[in-house]
Amino acid sequence: MARQLAAKAICRLLVVSIHVLGAVAVAGAGRSAVRPSEITQQVPAVFVFGDSTMDVGNNNYLSGENVPRANKPYYGVDYPTSRPTGRFSNGYNVADFIAKALGFKESPPAYLSLAPRSNSLVVAAVSRGVSYASAGAGILDSTYAGENIPLSKQVRYFESTKAHVEARLGSRATSKFLSRSLFLFGIGSNDLFVYAEGQSGINDVATLYASLISNYSAAITDLYKMGARKFAIINVGPLGCVPVVRLLTGTGGCDDDLNQLAIGLDDAIKPMVTGLTSRLHGLVYSLGNFYDQAMDNFAHPKAFGFANTDSACCGSGIMGAEDDCLPNSTLCTDHDGFLFWDRVHPSQRAAQLTAATFYDGISRHTTPFNFKQLVRKKTTN
Ligand SMILES: *[C@@H]1O[C@H](CO)[C@@H](O)[C@H](O)[C@H]1NC(C)=O
Ligand SMILES: *[C@@H]1O[C@H](CO)[C@@H](O)[C@H](O)[C@H]1NC(C)=O
Repeated sequence: MARQLAAKAICRLLVVSIHVLGAVAVAGAGRSAVRPSEITQQVPAVFVFGDSTMDVGNNNYLSGENVPRANKPYYGVDYPTSRPTGRFSNGYNVADFIAKALGFKESPPAYLSLAPRSNSLVVAAVSRGVSYASAGAGILDSTYAGENIPLSKQVRYFESTKAHVEARLGSRATSKFLSRSLFLFGIGSNDLFVYAEGQSGINDVATLYASLISNYSAAITDLYKMGARKFAIINVGPLGCVPVVRLLTGTGGCDDDLNQLAIGLDDAIKPMVTGLTSRLHGLVYSLGNFYDQAMDNFAHPKAFGFANTDSACCGSGIMGAEDDCLPNSTLCTDHDGFLFWDRVHPSQRAAQLTAATFYDGISRHTTPFNFKQLVRKKTTN
C-alpha cells in the first residue's frame, strides 16, 4: 500500500533529460547563415532524451490534467529568472549542468517549444541541440501512457528534427554534425515505479528487464542509424531513497526492494551498452553510475556539503514528503544544503554534483571513461 502511494507520487514527477553539446548558430539570418560551428563548445550540439530529471519544459506543452508539470512556484526559485521553467528543480537540472560543462549556457531548449517553427528548430538544433525529455516518461510506451512523451516518441521527434536540419544543411554536413554531437540519456525510473505499483501488466522482474532493455537498445540503435555516435547514458538512481518512498518505510530509511529493482536494471544496462558497441561500428559511450554517485551522498552527506539528505526542501508534512512542491509549500532555508528539492527530485546543487562527477570526476562512477573524455573521441559518420 505504502509502496503504491510512493510509486504514484514518484511516477508523476520523474522526468528524463538529455545532455548538452555546443555549437554556435547564427539565428535570424538567411538559409546559408545557419551552420554548425564549434566555437567554445566541446560538441556542436546536445540531444537530450529522458524523464523529469532532464525535462526543461516539454510537458508544459502537453495537454491533460495528469501531465506532470513544474510550472508553478517554487519551481525555478533559484533559476536566473526566479521563475518556473518546467524544470523539476529549484534551479538548473542535471542536463543543464552537463551542457554548461560542455560550454553551453544551459540545456538545449524543449522540442515542443521549437517544433511549430521549422527555422527555430533548425537554428536551435545546429547551435545547441534539442531536448526531448519529458517528465513521467519511460522506456516503455505504456509507462504513464498519455501523460508524457515516451522514449520511442522522443526518438521520432529527433527523426523529424534531423529531417529539418538535413533540408538546410544537406546530408553530408548533417551526418558530420550528428556524429560529433552528444546524445544524452536519463530514463528508466518511471518504468520501475509503475512496475512496483503493480500497474505495468508485467508479472515478473525478468520479463520487465527484458522488455526495458529491448526497447532501450532499440532506441539507441535507431539513433545510431540516423547518425548518432556519442552516447552519454545516466543509469537509474536509488529510487528507494527519495523522500516520498522514505515516508512510507516507517523508519525514514530507504526502501531496499525499490533499490534492488533499480540495481537490477542498472546491471542490465551495462551489458546492453557494451553489446551495442560491438554491433554498431563507431559507437562510443560513457555510462554514468547515478546509483553509486547518489549513494555516496547518503553515506557521507557532510563531505558533500549536505545538511539533509532525506527530506524535501519544498513540500509539506513529515520530511516535506506528504505533498508535492506547491505554491503553499513550506521551503527549507538553505536550498543548497538539501539533497532533495521536492519529494522526488534532486536539488539544483545535487544535480550539479552529479553532472560534475560524470563530466570529469573520478572514474569509479563512469564506464569506460567520463563524459569529457567521451566528447573528445574522434568519431566517423
Ligand atoms: C518499444 O519500442 C518500439 C520502437 O521504438 C515501439 O514502437 C514500441 O511501442 C515500444 N514498446 C513498448 C512496450 O514500449
Ligand atoms: C496546499 O494547497 C493544496 C491545494 O492546491 C491543498 O490540497 C493542500 O492541503 C495545501 N497544503 C497546505 C500545507 O496548506
